[in-house]
Amino acid sequence: MEKEEPIAARFVNVSKKYNSGSVRSVALDDVSFEIRRGDFTTVMGPSGGGKTTLLNVLGGLDKPDSGEVYVSDKKISELQDKELTQLRREDIGFVFQFFNLMPTMTVRENVELPLLLNGNSKAGSENVVKLLDYVGLLHRGESFPAELSGGEMQRVAMARALVHKPSLILADEPTGNLDSENGEKILSLMRNISQDFKATFVMVTHNPEAARFGNLKLEIRDGKLTQH
Ligand SMILES: Nc1ncnc2c1ncn2[C@@H]1O[C@H](COP(=O)(O)OP(=O)(O)O)[C@@H](O)[C@H]1O
Ligand SMILES: [Mg+2]
Repeated sequence: MEKEEPIAARFVNVSKKYNSGSVRSVALDDVSFEIRRGDFTTVMGPSGGGKTTLLNVLGGLDKPDSGEVYVSDKKISELQDKELTQLRREDIGFVFQFFNLMPTMTVRENVELPLLLNGNSKAGSENVVKLLDYVGLLHRGESFPAELSGGEMQRVAMARALVHKPSLILADEPTGNLDSENGEKILSLMRNISQDFKATFVMVTHNPEAARFGNLKLEIRDGKLTQH
């Protein structure tokens, strides 16, 4: 192992409960871990175990009840909503199971969207072209999402997640809605991105094959984390 990379994200004794009617779920139960820059972290575990909650808290979409959450050296567990929005826009790239592309925008516009939200689309437009080329979809820039296959849509979502050079890319079951061949392609694209861009991935998956990709393997059940 070469010299240690800086910390990309950290949970310190993070807990989160949900109350829904009379049902009380412990989604995160005293969870601590540390991710370094360039790590490919996989998160496995049964449905309802707390995987999505972990990603949402890490990405500033949800707040913990207690404990500390850091992204790079920023303590995000104390940020207000407005600051969390800024964190998501600047530091986080999201990839979802159902792609979540904007149907009325072209492929190029979808990839450009994070830059628009950050107010620096001019400076980043070269990066849009570079990333569309990288994911093999430069020729589809003027197409709309509905004209693409699922695998292609997820490649667009990958480019969108990278375009603003986030410090963390969070992927919630990114291959969960793809057939096995396209799932494989997305996984190897993610592995290439992680190497070529020194990107830091946290990927939730149900697929043990996909989980083998990780150099850091987390498992969460009943809100309790174990590290493999
Ligand atoms: N918004 C919510 N309201 C109420 N309960 C929730 C909410 N989100 C998650 N939970 C509960 O928290 C637990 C963990 O859920 P989740 O993080 O979505 O698990 P996973 O992604 O591993 O399937 C489950 O018991 C789930 O029902
Ligand atoms: Mg989930």
